[in-house]
Amino acid sequence: MCEWFPILRGKYFTYTEYLFILTIVGFPVFSATSFSISKILNFLNRKKDRSLRLQSPESSGDEYYDSRTQDETISPTFRSISSEKQMLNPKPQPAGTPTVNFFNELGWFFASHWPGCFAVWSFLIPVWFAFILDYSIFLLRIRYRKKMDKLRLYTALQSKDKTEAYGRKVKPINSFYTKLTIFFTIFDILLHLLFTGFCVSSYQDYVGPIFGTASLSSTFTRYFQLPEFCPPGPPCHVYATLPEDTATSVFINVHTNEKYNVIGIEYELDHSSYESERDVKSQNSTSFKVAGTDRNGRRKLHHFYLDNLVPDSTYQLRIVYDGIVQHRTVYKTLPGQDSPRDVILVQGGDMGNTKATRDVTKATIAMNPDVLVLGGDLAYDNGMCECYFTWDYFLKDLEQVNEALGRLVPVIYSLGNHDAGIDEMNRRGGLEITEKGPFYMTYFPQHSRLSSRTKAILPEVPTFEERKSYHYHKIGKMLLFTLDSGYYSDLKEQALWMESILKDHLSWIKIALYHCPIYYACRDIAVKNHEVIDAQRKEWMPVFDDNKFMLAFENHEHYMKRTLSLRNDKYDSLGTVYIGNGQWGTYDHKNCKLYNETGVYESIQEVNHYWAVNISFNAGVVTNTPYDQDNKALLPPGIQRIDQYTMEDIKY
Ligand SMILES: [Fe+2]
Repeated sequence: MCEWFPILRGKYFTYTEYLFILTIVGFPVFSATSFSISKILNFLNRKKDRSLRLQSPESSGDEYYDSRTQDETISPTFRSISSEKQMLNPKPQPAGTPTVNFFNELGWFFASHWPGCFAVWSFLIPVWFAFILDYSIFLLRIRYRKKMDKLRLYTALQSKDKTEAYGRKVKPINSFYTKLTIFFTIFDILLHLLFTGFCVSSYQDYVGPIFGTASLSSTFTRYFQLPEFCPPGPPCHVYATLPEDTATSVFINVHTNEKYNVIGIEYELDHSSYESERDVKSQNSTSFKVAGTDRNGRRKLHHFYLDNLVPDSTYQLRIVYDGIVQHRTVYKTLPGQDSPRDVILVQGGDMGNTKATRDVTKATIAMNPDVLVLGGDLAYDNGMCECYFTWDYFLKDLEQVNEALGRLVPVIYSLGNHDAGIDEMNRRGGLEITEKGPFYMTYFPQHSRLSSRTKAILPEVPTFEERKSYHYHKIGKMLLFTLDSGYYSDLKEQALWMESILKDHLSWIKIALYHCPIYYACRDIAVKNHEVIDAQRKEWMPVFDDNKFMLAFENHEHYMKRTLSLRNDKYDSLGTVYIGNGQWGTYDHKNCKLYNETGVYESIQEVNHYWAVNISFNAGVVTNTPYDQDNKALLPPGIQRIDQYTMEDIKY
């Protein structure tokens, strides 16, 4: 259905809003459908009853039973009274009354729980208010049913002494409704508990229930399934992200318990490697609150921007708060542009938190990477703050690399649809970034603050409002552009921005990283995503072609591919090689038959994998090789000569 109505395809709504709309529309639709079925069945019953009465020679038309007894609001108590009377005065029993009642009550269930839909997706009203509204509707309904039953009691007994009849039969009715109220009060409380703070995440095996690739959880179920992630004491996560100049600066990011408002860091060159006087520097964190998580996920987010570092050097880092050193780690800066040292990038995307994810991550350790370059759809939280735990498991997964290598391996991220919580090429423009996320944007600063007046780079952590979804990073003499496939930022704006950066870096190696591929191997998905493909082709490909981009890292489609070197969509020995397509830990292929009818692919394989890209400035070559989770090479290395991809810098 969504294919026919583009407005429902995630272009205007976030995934949370989309699910919310489905629910608030779905409940009234289910309610109306149930009422309609009930009415139709009731009508059929009456018709059948009339025809049976006409066939019956004893039918006199003044029996106790009349059509009102088939009203959908008949309670079991009243049915028992009716049965009693019918035994005294036998007559045809209308079929389907329990079914009529079932559908009628189902209609009321959906109608009365409509306010609860707001609480399920944490929209507009808190859960307690939703419960009061739901429960009030339910109580009104119960009062109405009780009143109707009593009215029918009078009619059914046809007693001259109504008071006496009422006195004899009203007690079971009151008792029945008291039990019903108690039952539904407990049921309603449990229902609200069970469905509040709903999270729909994908590709993770920690929290369930799991249906296919989707994992469902609520505040209630997570309470029993998840631990407290950031208890008081040492940090729960420490990781590095990169600003523009990776040789002299780095973001160190720390998650702690929420009681630590500001923390400190001490850093110094590793004095075991450098025979110089110790020069310990320190700074306080730029800290942010994280909101929207469960109690078990509460934390404070701290960032440090370390700059003026020595390129290609090892630093000792100490995280200090509460009067003591809480955590020690090591960070190695990346080489500067004049360094001949090789740089190893490990690249992949579409990760999740599955066994395959963990196996592939573990396999990357053997490459001893300088940087991890991850192309979106990382934790699969779908932009929902309730799915905060997916980032905890994602970070824990990467921490196994840091622990094994004894240093913080910095990570460069690009934004995917499951990180932003909205589809590519959305019509909403940039979404708001708040304490509630999306956590991709709040957890991972990846560019410096810009001076509002001169637009010059400031060595400071950007605020949430200042964060951009596209940025660049200099690694050795390689320029890596991290682009956004239209989740937060316009494609043309990014093309113009790339050109403004490129004019000073034409003699560098150029690589692009983004989520949605330009080259698809699945016809159905290519048709579905033609808008972003066409836009990226139109806005970005000329920039890649004109400036001799060496590699483009693509993701999103969950298979391994490498194209021939391409320029203007055709083979060119000095063109860009597009590698991807994001299957680190994901496992479905969307029932799509892969094809190579355009002939641009060197290889397409369905396999969990990562790419190792070795930039050897000394040898003057860049190699790219895909590996599976057992570190078996899936293709021979793709080799490109650096001098064939560099251009003359423009002289000013
Ligand atoms: Fe994706």
